[in-house]
Amino acid sequence: MKREERVVQPEEMKRQEAFIEEIREMPQKPKSYYVVTYGCQMNAHDSEKLAGMLQRMGITEAEERDKADFVIFNTCCVRENAERRALGNVTWLKEVRKNNPGLIIAVCGCMIQEPGMAEKILKQYRFINLAFGTANLHCFPELMYRTLNTDRSVVVVEDRDVIPEGLPIARARKEAAYITIMYGCNNYCSYCIVPYVRGRERSRQPEQILREAEGLRDSGVKEIMLLGQNVNSYGKDLEGGMSFAALLKELDGTGIPRIRFMTSHPKDLSDELIDVMSGSRHILPQFHLPVQSGSDRILKMMNRHYTRDQYLDRVRKLREAVPGIGLSTDIIVGFPGETEEEFRETMALVEKVRYDSAFTFIYSPRVGTRAAEMESQIAPEVATRRIQELIALQEGLQQETMKRFVGTEEEVLTEGLSRRSSESVSGKGRHGISITIAGTVQDVGEILRCRVTGLKNNTLVGERI
Ligand code: SAH
Ligand code: SF4
Ligand code: F3S
Repeated sequence: MKREERVVQPEEMKRQEAFIEEIREMPQKPKSYYVVTYGCQMNAHDSEKLAGMLQRMGITEAEERDKADFVIFNTCCVRENAERRALGNVTWLKEVRKNNPGLIIAVCGCMIQEPGMAEKILKQYRFINLAFGTANLHCFPELMYRTLNTDRSVVVVEDRDVIPEGLPIARARKEAAYITIMYGCNNYCSYCIVPYVRGRERSRQPEQILREAEGLRDSGVKEIMLLGQNVNSYGKDLEGGMSFAALLKELDGTGIPRIRFMTSHPKDLSDELIDVMSGSRHILPQFHLPVQSGSDRILKMMNRHYTRDQYLDRVRKLREAVPGIGLSTDIIVGFPGETEEEFRETMALVEKVRYDSAFTFIYSPRVGTRAAEMESQIAPEVATRRIQELIALQEGLQQETMKRFVGTEEEVLTEGLSRRSSESVSGKGRHGISITIAGTVQDVGEILRCRVTGLKNNTLVGERI
């Protein structure tokens, strides 16, 4: 399909708008909604779009899930436990319906996009009123209208690579905002289900992204987080394509105080991007660079297209260009066939790089992916022991790496009151690390300058300057 045809046409968006208006006037519409979100930032942002549409329908957000008349689960299926948790909670809601017979239960997101899921819902989960996949998010008004006008389940799953523009967004935070720059993924890492449930890579037009960023800046947003499964391949599908580095440079010029992005695939991390980062004040000195494994053989089996040395070279370049940069990563242990020695290579890499944080996962086979078909799947107890070792190593190293901030000056964008005390606030410093400082509700959402004074319970504490 040509790229232009992927953008949902304005006429279609107008049609959806008309459904919103219809629902607004319906006496039987739900009064309150609650969105339950699983998975990554991509899903969190989709939930903000769902909330945006629901509010336009005249439905207000409920304080608690069990008080709402309309509950929607935005699901994730990247690992089996994510899926199990979602299905468990959806089923539990059936009980809540006994006290609230009018309760509408809806399910959307990546899990619905899995092959056979539509049939499964119609057969085994008949109490679900509405289900739709990631490709149908922008049709939610129409699907909601249908649901409100029938006693049957409405289940719609399509395999389309669309780019919806202009959806209303009810943002969860005032001071920080997500901006999707591209949808989907073409990488087909052999363990990963995302390309199957999120479709092919497609980039938004740079003008659309810039307009959104400027709008956010004008409304006082202090930080934007650019989202894509692989932001480094932004623009490759655009005519006269703009690179991710060039897009960042443009965004840097808007004057938004803080710019972050995720996720970057190491194989596409260009020197151009590193240059842009080193020359910018607004692009924060932090980088999430998933390594997945420290073993060349496993990386190859994972279809990652880089070696351990190439990865380490990127890390070295980043650190040279942006001194003190905050580095985080994702690691999978127990990939099929991973030997003890190969696991040790991952441990050694972690020790060498010294990440500021690491998200560690036990490999989870996903139906339809190549790795799920591979022989010699690792025994659960072996994988569990490996992840425990890895976590222990990382926690120890993190204590050390964090110490480098003690005595330095940082700028914190405060997210909320600290969980430990009502007289302090916490948020992220420019390097992506959480810092707690004295403050009150009035300080939330502000950028505060501080001097880092120490390390307490694994988090940095600072004093305001
Ligand atoms: N596009 C991003 C994030 C994808 S999902 C990226 O490429 O980095 C986030 C993380 O989940 C991945 O980085 C990987 O570490 C983990 N993951 C994905 N599939 C998995 C699986 N089948 N089992 C265990 N972890 C998985
Ligand atoms: Fe999954 Fe790999 Fe794509 Fe990330 S880059 S979403 S891990 S296939
Ligand atoms: Fe999960 Fe979908 Fe994100 S599978 S990790 S919510 S893209």
